[in-house]
Amino acid sequence: MKKILFAASEGVPFIKTGGLADVVGSLPKCIDKQYFDVRVILPKYACMKQEMKDKMEYITHFYMDYNWQDVYVGILGAQVDGIQYYFIDNEFYFNGMKPYGDNALFEIEKYAFFSKAVLSALPLIGFRPDLIHCHDWQTGLVPVYLKERFQGNDFFRGVKSVITIHNLKFQGKWDPKTVQSITGLPEYYFTPDKLEAYDDANLLKGGIVFADAVTTVSDTYAEEIKTGFYGEGLDGLLRARSGDLRGIVNGIDYEDFNPETDPYIVKQYNAINFRKEKVKNKKALQEQLGLKVDEKKMMIGIVSRLTDQKGFDLIAYMMDELCQDDIQLVVLGTGEEQYENMFRHFDWKYSDKVSANIYYSEELSHRIYAACDAFLMPSLFEPCGLSQLMSLRYGTVPIVRETGGLKDTVQPYNQYEGTGTGFSFANYNAHEMLATIRYAEQIYYDKKREWNKIVDRAMAADFSWDVSAKKYQEMYDWLIG
Ligand code: ADP
Ligand code: GLC
Repeated sequence: MKKILFAASEGVPFIKTGGLADVVGSLPKCIDKQYFDVRVILPKYACMKQEMKDKMEYITHFYMDYNWQDVYVGILGAQVDGIQYYFIDNEFYFNGMKPYGDNALFEIEKYAFFSKAVLSALPLIGFRPDLIHCHDWQTGLVPVYLKERFQGNDFFRGVKSVITIHNLKFQGKWDPKTVQSITGLPEYYFTPDKLEAYDDANLLKGGIVFADAVTTVSDTYAEEIKTGFYGEGLDGLLRARSGDLRGIVNGIDYEDFNPETDPYIVKQYNAINFRKEKVKNKKALQEQLGLKVDEKKMMIGIVSRLTDQKGFDLIAYMMDELCQDDIQLVVLGTGEEQYENMFRHFDWKYSDKVSANIYYSEELSHRIYAACDAFLMPSLFEPCGLSQLMSLRYGTVPIVRETGGLKDTVQPYNQYEGTGTGFSFANYNAHEMLATIRYAEQIYYDKKREWNKIVDRAMAADFSWDVSAKKYQEMYDWLIG
């Protein structure tokens, strides 16, 4: 039995801010249990729901030399859905109202602590992974610490590491002297062939340099990040590591996201009866959100972090014009204030057409995926994107920009060939986006049978983890040998 440890800063059902949590929560369940023992280690955040904290049991604790102090490290455990979870407990670092805070230096100190604590905890738990699968910059120092000190110890000899880039934009950067002092890594680690990039210490770079393999979450993003536009300054390094870099597209949990059994939605439906049943969710949502109740109105949904990444400047630019159309727009999201206020403004201005819900809600997100006719995601860049996969699963037609995972998972409608699962446009341009939305409106209103066939194909597309989990397994096998 090969042993794999996932190390990450968030994971469903314990804590979630975005798609990373969905992946960390769903992928381990889909790895073949006959050959792999996959466990997951996360921070224990004070802001986790009490019912989740109640599932955790104290295992042990120790004190770790970190940032010139002896720091408390608690280890807790829990079993959920057949997966063994571990948690690193430290009230100083993990006490906030949210997992991530605004103080960049503290974030670095916190996740460097987590990375070192993960490795230090393993001998005490008695779990020696053959491979540690790290995710994003927060765990970038795991491969570094592993090579720098832990592999000198028998317990860790031969332990491999992989890092998956879910978002290259976030790298964990600060000046090298400070990071060196906090982490206790030797000075010669802070050179451009190791942790340094553009005069900063860069934790993600450390992970990419020292991991045995690097993956990202779609084929297109794996190519894009080797270019200057998408490379966030690390494109040179990624080109240099391209032999060890591959894209494996994300899946979603087909049980949690299933319109036939979803407990959050008003009317369950499936690929056969959606023509009659899906619309009941739209009516219910119109009532719930105070929109005009009209089941014929085309409803477009957005569920997203409200950041530049997701293309909200295009939407902001076109909102007035878009709101002249015969549509309704339902938004669920939190993030940058300018976008939160932009949607609040249009909700006020076009109150029967626009519903802005500026908060986080699992339940409302499911209701939107189920109720809407289309889902808008005009991202500037998108490593994979899960929202469009959830939309496809619920027969809600995605309208996306052709970038990263959006390009790999949404097949554009072709009216001549009768193919496609959604609508897409190539350039990051507001008019192109609006023209594409209007093309979708036209099919929705004037060619309903065609529209329903798009829905048929969307619901038939398979983005469960089956195929991609096998690719991870192959990679684990290849690395562990
Ligand atoms: P990213 O990870 O970049 O935020 P993804 O599309 O990969 O984008 O994943 C986003 C996940 O977060 C989806 O599961 C989406 O439904 C969820 N989500 C985003 N914002 C909210 C919100 N305000 N309320 C509930 N779920 C949200
Ligand atoms: C990141 C990306 C998103 C991806 C998710 C899970 O948050 O922004 O595109 O789907 O990670 O891999």
